[in-house]
Amino acid sequence: MLKIVVCVSGGGTNLQAIIDRIADKTITNTEIAAVISNNQGAYALERAKNAGIPSYCISPKEYESRELFNKAFVEKMMALAPDLIVLAGFLVTIPPEMIQKFPFRIINIHPSLIPSFCGVGYYGLKVHEGALARGVKVTGATVHFVDEGTDTGPIILQKAVAVKEGDTPKTLQQRVMEEAEWVILPKAINLIANNRITVKDKAVHVTE
Ligand code: GAR
Repeated sequence: MLKIVVCVSGGGTNLQAIIDRIADKTITNTEIAAVISNNQGAYALERAKNAGIPSYCISPKEYESRELFNKAFVEKMMALAPDLIVLAGFLVTIPPEMIQKFPFRIINIHPSLIPSFCGVGYYGLKVHEGALARGVKVTGATVHFVDEGTDTGPIILQKAVAVKEGDTPKTLQQRVMEEAEWVILPKAINLIANNRITVKDKAVHVTE
């Protein structure tokens, strides 16, 4: 059984997709041990509560320095001892110590086709604002392993989504979530839970 911890910052629709896909058995061999939010007001915490999943808030605001926050965050994660950490709209930089302690055991969902519209400053609606400003006709979402860089880790799954005439950042964000994020994040977890992912150099291979 793959024990996962899901980290969230906001609405938690990706968390909900994971909960729902475990419930309907699209994801197998997986249990959500806990949800961690950096934001006490995150609706994602309500979703965790409604699903009976233990949740914790660890906010950088409650610590005197980033170092102290990082230490508390890493200690909490070590105590929970997940097999996989899932960043589902988590907008805090992962401490380097955590990446070292969980090599190829942290995944992130990003709302674009990496390497477009990713890296420092590209998160949430800003990604879709960037895509519309550039006038791309196709965007999408990416699930990748987390390494020391920002959105630079090995790519596990991607799904393309068409940009439509008249799209606003919000309408595009919603379509990318519905058509791509809520599909490929559960799918990636299921592949990992069933030992179907291998990583060689920077390339991820899916085996039968
Ligand atoms: C999602 O669109 C996710 O891809 C994005 O934040 C949103 C969270 O929504 N993540 C990033 O931009 C990370 N760089 P949710 O809380 O409803 O799942």
